[in-house]
Amino acid sequence: MEEMEDEEKQASQEKKHTSWVKKVMAYVAIGEAVVIFVGIQFIPWGRATINLPVKAEPKWDSPKTRELFFRACGDCHSNQTALPWYDLIAPITWIINRDIEKGRVALNVSEWGLQENEAGEAAETVRNGSMPPTLYALSHPSARLSASDKEAFVQGLVATFGEHKGEQTSKKKPDDSLHFFPVRKDDQNAGK
Ligand code: HEC
Repeated sequence: MEEMEDEEKQASQEKKHTSWVKKVMAYVAIGEAVVIFVGIQFIPWGRATINLPVKAEPKWDSPKTRELFFRACGDCHSNQTALPWYDLIAPITWIINRDIEKGRVALNVSEWGLQENEAGEAAETVRNGSMPPTLYALSHPSARLSASDKEAFVQGLVATFGEHKGEQTSKKKPDDSLHFFPVRKDDQNAGK
């Protein structure tokens, strides 16, 4: 009889002990996460390119087109990036910085005429909804354009940049990354 009571006591003590250890470990894990989160804020990668000087701008067809461009596209396609506070928190800032770097290579309205660009496709990207990127549009409400703004914007982009149709002038096609092996020209045309 006494023996059993002892066993029970021991078991309940062990239980208490493990739940206590679990609690401490949870606090340690939270503490570590906080330290890592605070620590990564000091990694400067992703801040360097946020704002650069404006060298030359295209001749916009109207101030309205320029305004809409800076509202919906300027963060990634100009040197005048104006990000909300939450974009400056690591690791979000690293992700958006990558988009900004790639976006500026494709089209940068602050270095107009100084590099090759894909501005001729701008109207089409707005028309088909591929730009601004979905995740960016969701997290940046001011970049979302109303239907009438969108229509005016497409017209303004065509008037400012013209429009490439058919033959793409860019070296790469957007879906290049989906192919494990390069698609040969004659393979591409075979089915047509
Ligand atoms: C969050 C950043 C971001 C925003 C905002 C953004 N773009 Fe882009 N854009 C990119 C990136 C990144 C690429 C390069 C895609 C690639 O290399 O595959 C790109 C590529 C392009 C291209 C080249 C053709 C293509 O589809 O790859 C055009 C044209 C373009 N964007 C126009 C626009 C226009 C117009 C807007 C505003 C309506 C806009 N972008 C908003 C990031 C952005």
